[in-house]
Amino acid sequence: MSKSEIGLLGLGTMGAALALNIADNEFDIAVYNRTTQVTLDFKAGAGDLSDRITATETLEKFVGALSTPRAIILMVPAGDAVDQQIAALRALLNDDDLIIDAGNANFHDTNRRATEAGDMPFLGIGVSGGEEGARFGPSIMGGGNRASWDRVAHILTAIAADHDGTPCATWMGEEGAGHFVKAVHNGIEYADMQMIAEVYGILRDGIGMDSAAIAAVFDQWNAGPLASYLIEISARVAEAKDTKTGAPLLDIITDAAGQKGTGRWTAIEAQHLGAPVPAIEAAVAARNLSAAKDLRKRGEDLFGAAPQPLNGALTVDQLEQALIAGKIICYAQGFTMISAASTQFGWKLPLPEIAKVWRAGCIIRSVMLDDMATALTEAPDQNLMLSGKFAEDLKANHNGLRQVVAQASLHGLAVPALSSSLAYFDTMRTHRGTANMLQGQRDYFGRHGFERLDRDGKGFHGPWAD
Ligand code: 6PG
Repeated sequence: MSKSEIGLLGLGTMGAALALNIADNEFDIAVYNRTTQVTLDFKAGAGDLSDRITATETLEKFVGALSTPRAIILMVPAGDAVDQQIAALRALLNDDDLIIDAGNANFHDTNRRATEAGDMPFLGIGVSGGEEGARFGPSIMGGGNRASWDRVAHILTAIAADHDGTPCATWMGEEGAGHFVKAVHNGIEYADMQMIAEVYGILRDGIGMDSAAIAAVFDQWNAGPLASYLIEISARVAEAKDTKTGAPLLDIITDAAGQKGTGRWTAIEAQHLGAPVPAIEAAVAARNLSAAKDLRKRGEDLFGAAPQPLNGALTVDQLEQALIAGKIICYAQGFTMISAASTQFGWKLPLPEIAKVWRAGCIIRSVMLDDMATALTEAPDQNLMLSGKFAEDLKANHNGLRQVVAQASLHGLAVPALSSSLAYFDTMRTHRGTANMLQGQRDYFGRHGFERLDRDGKGFHGPWAD
């Protein structure tokens, strides 16, 4: 039997979808899953594509089914399982065989695995787009040795999403660069989702719209500057009915969100890099607070329910403006963080290419990313807030964001990510800030020293030093 050009190990939801996508693009693929029945069921359910799929029942047969030098995609849960699979595979592989971790790995783990691999080829690739993306065209953020990427680039670009003829699969840099970019993608995903949820809350509790009316608002926005996958699916979620009762599904979904942790990694890493992403941090915190549902119930019983009707204090247009401004500010933070990581880790991360690779296939795809790609191509080092088009968009929309944050606060509607974005915006346009007070305090209690506006030099102290 002829050997397969590529192998995929791990036939969970994402692995199975990716394997079908690869077969659909006319590559012969060998697959393996720890539970043999899963492997057999997968092939049996692959329909016309099953001719291209070799189902293998042991790791040895899996490795033996691949043409050399081999290329194997790992699609197993991030963490220890990846290390275990790599160890089990390496015992059977040649030194020039390539392992590609396509799960949501922490990029620090990918850095370590790249080091441990030594001269043996290893890639860490971020794959975004959920199950449908994996099946019909994800966005792929590659990291690792460039020559290894080039070996499989023809497969990865063939299966990736396409934006006006450009495949959304790009090599980002060495080691964990691809998984790092994927983590920032997920951080932005958290913030984007949170800001939409905050606006949903205002439409529901402040304006009193039902879910169907909210769906119509999102649909309307999806035809304008906010056009994006997340706004589109928010409309679909809002309009959905419970199949049993016919009630709006959104009204019976529990308001406590889970997370696998990638947004949290972004927030933590941003702190390490000294490149804050407060909108993302607020979104991660909001998810954690959402999970504390019992505590929130006790708070409501004690202090009274917070949300109050807005009685016309905000318009739907202002909410759209708030989301436009919030989104630009959130991306400005994300790209600034990427730029800081690029310097810190010596990766030369290609900012315009990152915006391009996010234009299709991934969860945060939106029309705005096309303009961001242009802005970052023209001025890669410029904070997006200051770049021509987005500066104009912010000028046109920041007042809407301010009104929304102000009125929401006055009416007890919690908008942590939107508030945080506004605070970032105001901070970043305040030349004379307030950290002089911090410096005075630090010098007072710890003789940390300060600089002066009226003299050159460092290490000045206040009169309290005497
Ligand atoms: C994507 C998604 C995907 C996923 C994550 C985050 O880009 O396709 O980000 O990777 O949804 O698992 O999920 P959590 O919300 O559970 O952290």
